[in-house]
Amino acid sequence: MSALSVALIGCGSIARKHVASIAACPGARLYAVCDVSQERMESMATLWQAESGEKNNIVLFADYRKLLADPAIDIVVVATISSLHAEIAKEALKADKHVVLEKPVALSLKDVDEMIRLAEERGLFVQVCHQLRYRPLMKKIKELVAGGALGNLSMASVTLRIYRPPGYYQTAPWRGTWEYDGGMLLNQGIHAIDLLLWCLGEPSRIYGELYSQAGGKETEDIALGLLSFPSGAKGMIEANSVTLPENLEQSLFLLGDQGVISIGGPKLDRIDRWHIEGQPDTREAALQILHHHDEHIEMYRSLIEACQGKPPGNLIDLRQGRRTLELIFALYLSASTGQVQPLPLAGFSTLQMKQT
Ligand SMILES: NC(=O)c1ccc[n+]([C@@H]2O[C@H](COP(=O)([O-])OP(=O)(O)OC[C@H]3O[C@@H](n4cnc5c(N)ncnc54)[C@H](O)[C@@H]3O)[C@@H](O)[C@H]2O)c1
Repeated sequence: MSALSVALIGCGSIARKHVASIAACPGARLYAVCDVSQERMESMATLWQAESGEKNNIVLFADYRKLLADPAIDIVVVATISSLHAEIAKEALKADKHVVLEKPVALSLKDVDEMIRLAEERGLFVQVCHQLRYRPLMKKIKELVAGGALGNLSMASVTLRIYRPPGYYQTAPWRGTWEYDGGMLLNQGIHAIDLLLWCLGEPSRIYGELYSQAGGKETEDIALGLLSFPSGAKGMIEANSVTLPENLEQSLFLLGDQGVISIGGPKLDRIDRWHIEGQPDTREAALQILHHHDEHIEMYRSLIEACQGKPPGNLIDLRQGRRTLELIFALYLSASTGQVQPLPLAGFSTLQMKQT
């Protein structure tokens, strides 16, 4: 079977990770890149040759619409500024391409619903970049929770205590705006929140508070959320991007009546507590895989296998991407009304936050 042709739209910071991951997958080959900056496109083409050892000339497109019209392309990676994700992904689906879609998948629920409709109508795959789910440690935790090893879960929390200096916003002015980025929770907090939802399912209500400590941007840099799940379990989100002078940690804490798992550290690969009644061997197994960080490659492998006809059960599809987005939107809504927000939400766009 010939390798699938991949095109990358958006050649900024995260694009490097995509190029390196595609190079690590024998079933795929980078074919084209697109950016409004010629220099960035050229640097991605050079990176591809260095990472893959291949000498194929990468086709450069300054206009993503022209790229999408190329019938040679099977998979499109959308890694542009966040406000363009939905627009480009919808056009890619209309052009019958499978999509790797960076988070956040969109900045409004209406856009996600349109993408879901297009993908399902056309039988196309969308792989949402919540890549931490592919990390072996996270898969182990999910497997234990789903198998009931922690017993009945009563409480879970995630924290994000990181630092984004003023230069982070100055070098890419779309960041820190409601219209183009969507806020710290949508940009940085989303991965930890996705893990919380993956383990516990959807909450039935949330109460949120936001605050902005640093100037020079519109969006929040501190966020708190209190969650209630249909089972009665409680959850907590505590996130900020102003922890001087550098990233401190992320954490995931899961508490059940048969055990507790608590992981943390700047890379979320430190075990603070791992106790499961009657199963001490699970901690040993977790220690063996603690520093395996090849989740981006695994994310691509899953999509390539699905495109090659294997069961797509391992994909993170748009319906899952929607749930994570919806929870963050509900926290934003609660923070702006001062009320507890029930889920599911009828609709929301980050543009609503501009008026609060
Ligand atoms: N999954 C992850 O862990 C992860 C990590 C970092 C960033 N991201 C996401 O990836 C996206 C990009 O983030 P980044 O940090 O690389 O940003 P960036 O600003 O470094 O890169 C964005 C790129 O998009 C390009 N672009 C803008 N308009 C375009 C257009 N019309 N056509 C083609 N290209 C266009 C810009 O020129 C720039 O090169 C964001 O949505 C962000 O949330 C995800």
